Amino acid sequence: MVSSFGQGRLDSNYPADRFGSSWIVKQVLVTGGSGFIGSHLTEALLARGDRVTVVDDESTGNVGNLATARQNTRLTYVQGSVGDESLVRELTNNVDEVYHLAAAVGVALIARAPMETIERNIYPTELILSCLRDRIQRGEAVKCFLASTSEVYGKNPKDTWSEDDDLVFGSTTRPRWSYGASKAIDEFMGLASHREYGLPVVIGRFFNVVGARQTGAYGMVLPRFVEAALTGRPLIVHDDGQQTRCFAHVDDVVSAVIALMETDTAVGRVFNIGSDDPISILGLAQRVIKLSNSKSIIEFQSYSQAYDEDFEDIRRRVPDLTRLRATIGHTLGNDLDSIIKRVIAFQQKQTS
Ligand SMILES: NC(=O)c1ccc[n+]([C@@H]2O[C@H](COP(=O)([O-])OP(=O)(O)OC[C@H]3O[C@@H](n4cnc5c(N)ncnc54)[C@H](O)[C@@H]3O)[C@@H](O)[C@H]2O)c1
Repeated sequence: MVSSFGQGRLDSNYPADRFGSSWIVKQVLVTGGSGFIGSHLTEALLARGDRVTVVDDESTGNVGNLATARQNTRLTYVQGSVGDESLVRELTNNVDEVYHLAAAVGVALIARAPMETIERNIYPTELILSCLRDRIQRGEAVKCFLASTSEVYGKNPKDTWSEDDDLVFGSTTRPRWSYGASKAIDEFMGLASHREYGLPVVIGRFFNVVGARQTGAYGMVLPRFVEAALTGRPLIVHDDGQQTRCFAHVDDVVSAVIALMETDTAVGRVFNIGSDDPISILGLAQRVIKLSNSKSIIEFQSYSQAYDEDFEDIRRRVPDLTRLRATIGHTLGNDLDSIIKRVIAFQQKQTS
């Protein structure tokens, strides 16, 4: 049985200097909170003064990511699945805000287990939104953040992607599109819940997010490169390495998420969240080698060797951040070199 909380006032650990004494302490639910982004978000919400309940099944996350957060008495940790209806009903019953991050994540995982991706990404979102619609019927509007992804743009050929652009997926015979398509269904459900029931939903499409605690085990490129560079192994670049991506530090992404949830005009809308400073994957590998003073070499590997014959990638992925900036005035605090240096320092600390 999970304990539930209502709204409270300031407690003794509360950073009243930031918000003043009239700030109402919120009871917040973070799904996927022992994952990479979720654990940083949990720390930031605790720092804001919230009471935070994390639910995570530890499928790709690790409770060790919450080692610092768990020292805070305002954190409740629940090991469980957001596919468990009675658990989700209980957890959403008294919360003031929900941040739904739990999902099947990572290109390697998606290529390997498309069925699991679809199930993990669609049903729990449907369940959470249904519970929150029940709260609306009781006259209680619970704000909900849905973590979506740049993958919903599919292979749209535009140079930069804006939130109202078309979604251009590949064939259903290529499993990698199941991730973007399943997140697109989540977005449709979130927006419909807002339009039809007045549920206050905010949707964030994360582009490549990086930082401490991200694991390379599910295909994430920066932790894989840093680990290889620090151990003197070759950095494996897929295809010709000319595909471009933009990398944002998790601290900047988390502060954008929180700012959006604190902004009334964000409700019912979709936002790109990330960096708009592109670099090729080959360029990233070279920067990692340089900044870590590594003697590693770069090796190239085809997508069919890395994943399977059906794999199809996206050549260029750059967000248009006009809407995000207009809504919250967001600027990034970390450039790419400082991000890479921070990831190197994190991995060195882990292995020392
Ligand atoms: N990291 C990125 O660059 C990126 C980019 C785009 C979108 N996103 C989105 O951000 C969110 C967080 O991603 P992340 O990078 O932190 O990945 P992550 O794998 O570290 O976090 C996901 C967490 O959800 C948990 N989880 C998965 N299924 C669950 C279930 N059924 N019940 C309970 N917990 C479950 C996992 O154990 C994990 O802790 C995801 O929704 C992902 O789609 C991330």
